[in-house]
Amino acid sequence: MRSVLITGGSEGIGLELARLFVQDNTRVILAARNEERLAEVKRQLESCGRGEVLVFSADLTVPEERQALYEAVKDLDIDVLVNNAGIGFAGPVWHTGIEDDLRLIRLNDEAVVHLCKLFVSDMIARREGMIINMASTGAFQPGPYIASYYASKAFVVNYTEALAYETRSYGLKVHAYCPGPVDTAFYPKSKGVKPPFAVTPVKAAEYLYTHLNDRRVVLVPGVVNKMMRIMPKWIKVPVLAEMKRSNGGWKK
Ligand SMILES: NC(=O)c1ccc[n+]([C@@H]2O[C@H](COP(=O)([O-])OP(=O)(O)OC[C@H]3O[C@@H](n4cnc5c(N)ncnc54)[C@H](OP(=O)(O)O)[C@@H]3O)[C@@H](O)[C@H]2O)c1
Repeated sequence: MRSVLITGGSEGIGLELARLFVQDNTRVILAARNEERLAEVKRQLESCGRGEVLVFSADLTVPEERQALYEAVKDLDIDVLVNNAGIGFAGPVWHTGIEDDLRLIRLNDEAVVHLCKLFVSDMIARREGMIINMASTGAFQPGPYIASYYASKAFVVNYTEALAYETRSYGLKVHAYCPGPVDTAFYPKSKGVKPPFAVTPVKAAEYLYTHLNDRRVVLVPGVVNKMMRIMPKWIKVPVLAEMKRSNGGWKK
């Protein structure tokens, strides 16, 4: 049975992606912090598919807990690693606390690098495997009023493209996934204001699931998001900044 590890798979996009894999006769391992929530999600997913669901509670901002996750699942020969867990903090740079920014970097970037490094050697040895790193359209430009988050996702895209290049002759598939706004708990947690055009997490997960075998490394759903990627920064940065400011893009 194929084994898929999804970090942050207990809600939002990760949970909907897990549901698709489970329905497809796959063993899914979910890693997140909240044990009760993981147990509830395990019950829910096992009742809706033929796959198997394992859960592992870990705070992935902590290096030792990432290592423990790897040790716990390495004998399952993980076929697909999805580095999905991520957080954001909206507001001017001087409003967000340094501890929040550092936690964001530890989860959105450091954990991605750490887990890629732990799993990629096994995949190289087996000459197969897939790594999906969750980025965002925020990766395509600086993000006034959400600076650390956008910068963290730019790191993810650049790191992933380099990893894809290095591993391409070893039979590995590597993607950075860049959805636009998705209607999940990310917004209340990040003190951000959800744009009215946010898509459902089901839609965001389905796009990724149906494009897993694409040749493209960077997966961007939708025409508007694709245009955002190529639009010059001098046009899009002031527009995005003004949208955030005038909509009350963050909550005090
Ligand atoms: N929502 C959007 O608009 C959007 C758009 C583009 C990209 N993305 C990206 O997509 C990914 C998923 O976002 P989402 O909207 O689905 O978020 P979400 O609904 O808030 O889910 C986040 C998941 O990450 C887990 N998590 C948070 N902190 C963690 C930690 N320290 N260690 C381990 N797990 C942790 C959470 O579980 P616990 O709290 O129990 O740990 C939860 O399972 C993120 O990388 C996000 O940046 C989101």
